[in-house]
Amino acid sequence: MKTWADFVAMKARGEKIAVLTCYDASFATLMERAGIDLLLVGDSLGMVLQGAADTLGVTMADMEYHTRCVAAGSDATPIITDMPYASDSTPAMALDNARRLIRAGAHMVKLEGAKCAVVRHLKAHDIAVCGHLGFTPQSVHELGGYKVQGRDERGARQILEEARALQHAGIDLLVLEMVPASLARQITAQLAIPTIGIGAGPDCDGQVLVLHDMLGIYPGKTPKFAHNFLQQAAGVEDAIARYVAAVKAGHFPTAEHSF
Ligand code: KIV
Repeated sequence: MKTWADFVAMKARGEKIAVLTCYDASFATLMERAGIDLLLVGDSLGMVLQGAADTLGVTMADMEYHTRCVAAGSDATPIITDMPYASDSTPAMALDNARRLIRAGAHMVKLEGAKCAVVRHLKAHDIAVCGHLGFTPQSVHELGGYKVQGRDERGARQILEEARALQHAGIDLLVLEMVPASLARQITAQLAIPTIGIGAGPDCDGQVLVLHDMLGIYPGKTPKFAHNFLQQAAGVEDAIARYVAAVKAGHFPTAEHSF
């Protein structure tokens, strides 16, 4: 299994990192066979599996259950699991909850926002951490809806400073969601750790999509950054392999998927 240092080496070599969200054992097996680099048990499951309008109702029990399912279907691919809403409000609470996710099979936890004290506490207890900046779905109400972040100079500067602060606190990876491609390029160039983009343009070190967004399952509005890889594919596994190949070749995302 790849180590976090391997992902830093991929960044240094300019080799793109392909990530998908995954919520169950069957998809984990298909994704591993198709060559995905990382599996993300995202709290997007609240929306795509549970039918909620946002991710705020997802519980620790939900995340543990789906992490166990994904771990049962994969053995060679690192698993990142989201810390659900309010599970990381204090460093002590975050450590207890992160340990539950690690016991369920996660290799790294992901948390939203510039929670540097929490990151330091988790890293001091040997827990690998992925940050998440830009549009952070758990703050959807505070952010006034599903909106691109960092469009103006002040907003962009704040995200860049938060990215640097999180790297300094010890994060191993950083997800950038719905930020202008130019800002993602700047952050990616300034950080030593890999950035993984979703709606953040082609210049991040890797890309992540919600599984349903790459299979063309759009019960609501189709996000600008989504692409249906199943349309041209022979089946689901081929669609995943096409996604991996497109990310690795730098063919996805294009300007059409970016802000
Ligand atoms: O929950 C999730 O699926 C995520 C991705 C959108 C990055 O955090």
